[in-house]
Amino acid sequence: MEVVILPSSKQIGIMAADAIAALLRRKPNAVLGLATGSSPLPIYNELARRHTEEGLDFSQAHGFALDEYVGLEAGHYESYKEVIRREFTNRVNIAPENVHGPDGSAQDITAACQAYEDSMMALGGVDLQILGVGTDGHIGFNEPGSSLASRTRIKTLIEQTRRDNARFFNSIDDVPHHVVTQGLGTIMDAKHVVLVATGAQKAQAVREFVEGPVSAMCAASILQMHPHVTILVDEAAASSLKLADYYRHTFDNKPSWQGI
Ligand code: GLP
Repeated sequence: MEVVILPSSKQIGIMAADAIAALLRRKPNAVLGLATGSSPLPIYNELARRHTEEGLDFSQAHGFALDEYVGLEAGHYESYKEVIRREFTNRVNIAPENVHGPDGSAQDITAACQAYEDSMMALGGVDLQILGVGTDGHIGFNEPGSSLASRTRIKTLIEQTRRDNARFFNSIDDVPHHVVTQGLGTIMDAKHVVLVATGAQKAQAVREFVEGPVSAMCAASILQMHPHVTILVDEAAASSLKLADYYRHTFDNKPSWQGI
């Protein structure tokens, strides 16, 4: 697990975009794992800028969203399908048919979740997964207690997450109780995971999943078992890390040929 502490979210966006651009050059039909929330926005902004100004090409790329609410009507402004479209995929030249998300409105949710897993597998799995982290340590919508081996499935949100996400809705009563999310086992299959966390409200979750025990009580801690994870944090989100100075020293002295 590599922890990189950066001065601003703009720099976080640039570093993650560098990794994605290098991947697309190496593998134009790369499979990108897409997250919602505010944390990945600087990455999407930087990728959109590079597409417009520098011709970064997504024409053969694929995208798979992490999660989706259950029970929002099709086209709902806050459905993650719409958020991903608005914040990212509409701003680059990725083919709309190459952008996938778990189906929160399927009649048979279990079958839809299996089909989603199968469609990811058929493309060889996710090459680079972008992640944020919830204040309770969730990734995707894998709340505390999620099986560390879970696959895409329905979950019930914890009240803290509904409160955190109420800012996107008129009131907390409009935040769905149920979601479908890639499981922790699904996320762990990605070849490279890039997790972004910014702001003091994330400091405790970052401390717990980076330096605490691996536990289902803090879902993101499973990333300690992944061979290629990059954690991009600002100073505020890094403020509770015990080994912050070591992470800074390591990054400052990293061999120049080594990307993230
Ligand atoms: C939601 C999403 C997560 C995201 C989290 C944090 O719950 N399902 O994927 O990481 O919010 O969001 P933010 O980055 O806005 O703090």
